[in-house]
Amino acid sequence: MAMNSSALMALAAGLLPEETAHAAAVFSVKLGMMPLPSYVPPSMLAATHFGLKFPSPVGLAAGFDKNAEIADKILATGFGFVEVGTVTPRAQPGNPKPRLFRLKEDKALINRLGFNNAGMKVMRANLESQRGAGMLGIVGVNIGKNKDTENALADYGAALTHLYDQGDYITVNVSSPNTPGLRMLQESGRLIELLDGLIEIRNAEAERSGRKIPLLLKVAPDLTSEDRADIAKIVLARDIAGIILTNTTIARPDALKSARRIETGGLSGPPLLPYALASVKDMYRLTEGKLPLVGVGGISSAADAYRFIRAGASLIQLYTALVYRGFGLAEEITRGLADLLAKDGFANVKDAVGADAK
Ligand SMILES: Cc1cc2nc3c(=O)[nH]c(=O)nc-3n(C[C@H](O)[C@H](O)[C@H](O)COP(=O)(O)O)c2cc1C
Repeated sequence: MAMNSSALMALAAGLLPEETAHAAAVFSVKLGMMPLPSYVPPSMLAATHFGLKFPSPVGLAAGFDKNAEIADKILATGFGFVEVGTVTPRAQPGNPKPRLFRLKEDKALINRLGFNNAGMKVMRANLESQRGAGMLGIVGVNIGKNKDTENALADYGAALTHLYDQGDYITVNVSSPNTPGLRMLQESGRLIELLDGLIEIRNAEAERSGRKIPLLLKVAPDLTSEDRADIAKIVLARDIAGIILTNTTIARPDALKSARRIETGGLSGPPLLPYALASVKDMYRLTEGKLPLVGVGGISSAADAYRFIRAGASLIQLYTALVYRGFGLAEEITRGLADLLAKDGFANVKDAVGADAK
């Protein structure tokens, strides 16, 4: 019997070393071996944020399709949007292997990949060819800096310029724990310098092309509420379209069962959920609901997605649950979310955003 990629992913996840399983999953999707739902998200899940019409709020988080090899195929499995990257200007190998670890008992992952990617030129070529072939859907491009670059703005700026016309939105990733010094860019002075520099570049590109791309900021779960208050103030005072909360955590909650909890890197999956959810709640309060937030961290069911939306997220993303569950998950969560919204009497997903904060 033919096996779809969900079954293959699950099988690979159990049998193969982590990175080999990931490469096998990407390869099988590239060949088109994934479920293609006939299900179309109901119009109650559609909403416009920062000028983009999202058919559903359920997206694939950055890091799965680092080089934008399969963005078109991922969209076809039922995700409302996909974020590709993190991409850096130059290709780089990332950290020595092993650097990706399954914490099976916790349904979690720890990674210290370190922005392994093929560089912005390869990503551009990949996106160009998929767009040329009629790719349908929203693709965000998540940008970062090369490990050996001192001047962060130069790298983020180069990636923004090079990929400007290939992204529907751009995410400024200052929160990965595996590039030394990266998270220090979340500190007020540096963040202002970086964002002001990028906004200037974006505005020049907008003038030149006649299209202004939305810039989003992706932050860590390991910030204090004071850090978040500073970030909220900085973002609200600038032309930044939204905030993604959160990246992986360097914390190791006591409840972790797996012996691999001792590995260095960013933890993702269900153990991250409380931190990410609290970050969304706090940021929704700090931004007074004025800015779309993207909630990500440990979401593995429609109920989880709904909790993030009610806490203040306009959109949600996931990654780790896909590794454990396979590509059928996008449709499962999308269907379940529509049911939960209808049950509570919401006519559109937008009406539920921040419902628990009101
Ligand atoms: C293996 C792996 C690689 C990741 N790579 C990136 C990345 O390149 N850029 C980024 O912004 N986030 C990256 N992330 C973080 C995810 O986008 C997401 O923020 C985080 O994993 C929490 O969501 P989850 O619990 O649903 O996985 C990565 C996560 C994992 C597990």
